[in-house]
Amino acid sequence: MSGSFEKTKAAYDRAVRTIPLGSQTFSKAAAATVEGAAPLFLDRGDGARVWDLDGNSYIDYVLGLLPVVLGYRDPDVDAAIRAQLDKGISFSLATELEAELAERLVDFIPCAEMVRFGKNGSDATSAAIRLARAYTGRDRIALCGYHGWHDWYIGTTARHLGVPQAVRDLSSAFPFNDADALEALLRADPDGFAAVILEPMALDPPAPGFLKAIRALCDRYGVVLVFDEIVTGFRIHLGGAQAAFGVTPDLAAFGKAMGNGMPISAIVGKREIVRLMEDIFFSGTFGGEALSLAASIATLDKLQAVDGPAVICALGAGLKRDVKGMIADHGLDTELAMKGGDWWPAAAPTGKGRAEPVMVASLMKQELIAEGVLMGSTFNLCLAHAQDGIIEETLAAWNRALGTVSAALESNDPAARLRGKPIRPVFQVRPAKEAE
Ligand SMILES: Cc1ncc(COP(=O)(O)O)c(C=O)c1O
Repeated sequence: MSGSFEKTKAAYDRAVRTIPLGSQTFSKAAAATVEGAAPLFLDRGDGARVWDLDGNSYIDYVLGLLPVVLGYRDPDVDAAIRAQLDKGISFSLATELEAELAERLVDFIPCAEMVRFGKNGSDATSAAIRLARAYTGRDRIALCGYHGWHDWYIGTTARHLGVPQAVRDLSSAFPFNDADALEALLRADPDGFAAVILEPMALDPPAPGFLKAIRALCDRYGVVLVFDEIVTGFRIHLGGAQAAFGVTPDLAAFGKAMGNGMPISAIVGKREIVRLMEDIFFSGTFGGEALSLAASIATLDKLQAVDGPAVICALGAGLKRDVKGMIADHGLDTELAMKGGDWWPAAAPTGKGRAEPVMVASLMKQELIAEGVLMGSTFNLCLAHAQDGIIEETLAAWNRALGTVSAALESNDPAARLRGKPIRPVFQVRPAKEAE
């Protein structure tokens, strides 16, 4: 059970004086949690657990927003970082680590013939868009999913303040699993589109034939197909969703889980397109930063050695089954539904129950925190969740939290059961997942 949040409160009051939001990331900010009844700062992590400033500990199903794929303080990754630290961090010329890591990505990922590195997922998705525009000589982008903070994507959302209209006009969103909607866009401007970029899977699986249909449309209209594998990468399969579903894009963006928490991303793809990196401008001070490269090599080697994606899928399949059963036992299946693949399960508010989805999500988040589980609606999984007792402890905490939420919804006034402010979503980029 978590206790007080005194130190969180003091740290937040201090941080907001100099840091807008008091955080670098919307989904780590106060508005993303039940402010007053939740930690806002963490002090340390180990395996699948984290500790907040007040000394409360949690089993963590956020994992730094998905990068921590092995667990906190993984001994092999940390040893690789320490060994590199003894040699240096950032150098005046390239290191051999770059080709070592690139070769692994080429081995794992079907579309990968050449590779460049970035720091954030947004670096990789934005590099893919620039490459596609350079390759096709066209400007327009069709997109589906969440792709980061850059103008070409965020201009299509409600958070477009600061993005010029001329840039917004070049990007058009289409719904997932709706190849007809994409076809209508392309048919209306057959020589206009440079790229189609989509998350090949988020919480909903691709409908049978959907990814193949998108591939065929891109071929027909001469458009570069980009898979955004920032979330799927190294979790659904070592080769990404493209390996899992057998549809190969022209380019793909990877990030998050690549370095078990170190900042690294990659843009990979067909040689004839990625080679254009020599002509466009994608170049930065930290692209070859060596600690992250060393961490990524160690992370991928370990994921391969233990078949990490299979471990993650087995954990997720069990959680999906057991949490679904508990939701039904507590009479909450009109409010909460299990979604997502085994690699990324979610317990998402349905919007059909006795309270607004945001109230259900707020109550769940509050009660899970009280029971020692830190999570949003998704179970972000890592190999350390497979350690002794972690899943059993999670299920016991869920069972108690569901009991409390059920009692709150039975009461006349569920909002009165909140011990802080309800969650205030930034905007919804995909069902049940907030912007990051
Ligand atoms: C699918 C997807 N693409 C791109 C990004 C952007 O990555 P980053 O936040 O590392 O820039 C994210 C981040 O959550 C993501 O989920």
